[in-house]
Amino acid sequence: MNYELSVQQAETHMSDGFGKSKSADAKTLIKTWIKVRRDREIPEFDAIEEFKWSFEGEDNLRKYTEKLAEMLNENGGMFIEDALKLKEKDIFSMLNENIHPQDMFAIPALRAVKKAIVNYFENTKQKERLRKATETVICHCRHVTDLDIQEAIEKGHNTLESLSAVTGAGTGCNSCIGRVVEILNRKKTAFGGIK
Ligand code: FES
Repeated sequence: MNYELSVQQAETHMSDGFGKSKSADAKTLIKTWIKVRRDREIPEFDAIEEFKWSFEGEDNLRKYTEKLAEMLNENGGMFIEDALKLKEKDIFSMLNENIHPQDMFAIPALRAVKKAIVNYFENTKQKERLRKATETVICHCRHVTDLDIQEAIEKGHNTLESLSAVTGAGTGCNSCIGRVVEILNRKKTAFGGIK
C-alpha cells in the first residue's frame, strides 16, 4: 500500500492534523497528514485512521518514512497515544538496523507526525491532551514539567526558592537547576521583567 502523496496531491489533501519537519541539514522536507478515528467517550482510544506523507529531498531518509507509515497504518491504525510514544530506535529496530546509541539521528517524519497529532489536538480543542503532548519533563526526580514550572511562575513564584518549594523541582539530585533557572529567566524576559 502506498501512503505517499505527490507534491500536487498534497496541496489539496484534507486531514484532521498536519505537521511538517526538515532534516537536520535542511535538505529534506517531510509533510504528514493524519485522519483520526475519534472515540468521543474514551479519547485515549483515538486511532490514526490514515497517515499520508509527502517527501522532498534526499532519498536516504525515505526508507524510515516508509517504515513509519507502515507502522502507523497497519492493523487498522495505531492509537494516537502509542504514536506519541514512538522513538527513533523503534523504527531502526523494525528495519533491523542496529544503530549504536551514539550514532542515532533524528527522523524528521517522526517529528512531523507528532506535530500532526498536536495539530489534531489543537483543531479539536482538546486542551489537556495538547498540554500533555507538548510538555517536557524538566525535573526527573520529582517529575516536574516545563508547563508546571511556567504555571508556577505565572502564579507569582518567580524565584528559584519559591519555584522549588511549590513544584518540588530541584529538590532531589539538583541536576535540573540550570534548566529551571533558564525557564525562569526566559519567562521574566517574556514579561519584560517580573517584579
Ligand atoms: S532532576 Fe530535578 S532534582 Fe533531580
